Amino acid sequence: MTLDLKAAEYTLGGLRPFPVAITTVDGGRTNGLISLSGGTMSIVAEAPRVSISLTKYNLTDSMVTSSGVFAMHLLGNDPEIIDKNLEILMTLGGTSGRDGDKMGGLRTKEGVTGCPILLDALSYVEGRVVHRLDCDECTFYVADVVASERLNRGGRLNIGEAWGKLPAEWLAAYEISHHPQVASARAMRGLPPLDH
Ligand SMILES: Cc1cc2nc3c(=O)[nH]c(=O)nc-3n(C[C@H](O)[C@H](O)[C@H](O)COP(=O)(O)O)c2cc1C
Repeated sequence: MTLDLKAAEYTLGGLRPFPVAITTVDGGRTNGLISLSGGTMSIVAEAPRVSISLTKYNLTDSMVTSSGVFAMHLLGNDPEIIDKNLEILMTLGGTSGRDGDKMGGLRTKEGVTGCPILLDALSYVEGRVVHRLDCDECTFYVADVVASERLNRGGRLNIGEAWGKLPAEWLAAYEISHHPQVASARAMRGLPPLDH
């Protein structure tokens, strides 16, 4: 049996439909990104664990490796907060903290780990990293949940609904900004560059 890339995409794509906003703090600097890799590692109900995979190309990855803390927020689709949540997605997922501060325009409070908590998100958990796995082009983190809170009412924003509501110009810019990230990941896996 050969590798059928379409079958692999069918099997693996969309397994995690909820984008999460990751924030962190390192040496006084705050930052964050959007990820579709948020997960749970919990089997012991009273000792929840959260997992996340971050691409090494992204500033947030090196900051979480250094500080060992992050907050993971669910985004909401309630009419009262959806615009703010799309704004969070575009702000954290569209540009890199390497190119300037992304947090200043977002409403936040300081969490128990020092991470910024996004007040317009639906809910969050804060974690302290207990396991870190180097996966070549990305890092996989498992963290003990040390704080959590429901911030707003309403349902979870899934990525299908978000893609349908994001402005076309933002989507086009995101597509372009994604290329260097993929190029970096390919290089770290020893794969040849793509022609764009
Ligand atoms: C829907 C969506 C899903 C994403 N999933 C991931 C992910 O799983 N891991 C990751 O490292 N980046 C992911 N990204 C990309 C980062 O959010 C993006 O590159 C961000 O600008 C990185 O910012 P930073 O360099 O400040 O960390 C995703 C972006 C979007 C919009």
